[in-house]
Amino acid sequence: MLEELLKIREEALKRLEEVESESDLSELNVSFLGRNGALTSILRTMSKLAPEERAKLGKEANEVKQFLAERFDFVRSAIEKKAEERRIKAETVDVTLPGTVDIPMGKLSPLTVVYRQIRDALIGLGFTTFEGPEIEYDDYNFTKLNLPLNHPARDMQDTFYINDKVLLRTHTSPCEARALMTLKPPFRVVIPGRVFRVDEPDASHSPVFMQMEGLVVDRNLTIADLKGTIDTFVKAVFGENVKSRLRPSYFPFTEPSAEVDISCTICGGKGCSSCKGTGWMEIMGCGITNPHEIENCGLDPNEWRAFAFGVGVDRVACLKYGINDIRLLYEGDARFLRQL
Ligand code: DAH
Repeated sequence: MLEELLKIREEALKRLEEVESESDLSELNVSFLGRNGALTSILRTMSKLAPEERAKLGKEANEVKQFLAERFDFVRSAIEKKAEERRIKAETVDVTLPGTVDIPMGKLSPLTVVYRQIRDALIGLGFTTFEGPEIEYDDYNFTKLNLPLNHPARDMQDTFYINDKVLLRTHTSPCEARALMTLKPPFRVVIPGRVFRVDEPDASHSPVFMQMEGLVVDRNLTIADLKGTIDTFVKAVFGENVKSRLRPSYFPFTEPSAEVDISCTICGGKGCSSCKGTGWMEIMGCGITNPHEIENCGLDPNEWRAFAFGVGVDRVACLKYGINDIRLLYEGDARFLRQL
């Protein structure tokens, strides 16, 4: 009987080595240690033995049983570990694989592209950004900028008034006053923002559009500094071959004032229908800041000089991309944006 016990032990160990899955293992468990298993059957027949032999064999049989139970446990945890490893491996996702679904990518609005190009060119010249409110005081939008009440130039811009003193800003120029009153000169700021005017929307008008204002305050500024600054950003947006020029004009907040023209982006300056044969296209206003504005904002015009410019980002975007209707910039039509 002892021999039989050892044989069972040998046999169980041998079969354990061949076990590959949990179900193999539980089958094996049943056939050796189960209620009708080989080992259990032997234990059952022991009652027929003489007490002395029974004790000896019983001890032996229990040892075999315990030994096998431990081996089974060991193999079970090895199988479980392997299964877990297989599961983790199967679940691993290679995040570098290309996707199976073609997700259409969004695009920056041409306004954002142009805004960033101008801003970055100016930041390269030492400018920082500055912002002000869209709902503004009449005082900042007009009066401080040398446009007192009843000044005829107030009619240059049709204004959405909220009440006598408060309006939707008609340009980013009121932020010039805010900058002059809060920043310590010398400074250079670029001021982006939405502006509002009473206008019927059509191909070249929108009641809301985007401007960028530049303001430089220092002690010894000249028109050459203004011209160089403007030429730098014109070239950053339109390319190195595009020329810029200043043409005398009038703005209440600058003296002298000028319009900036760039060489026609369509014909390169030869003259075509887009530039009405002149070879030039107007893009913005600028000038040496009027000493009245500097004084109105609390600085000494004998000590500080400034120059400024205000550019319509919409207009620049339309010129750069050959867009013939400003409304397209605001409608967010993906078919339009996809073409750019
Ligand atoms: N604020 C003017 C406008 O909206 C544009 C402008 C012209 C701004 C000349 C300036 C400037 O700073 O110097 O039409």
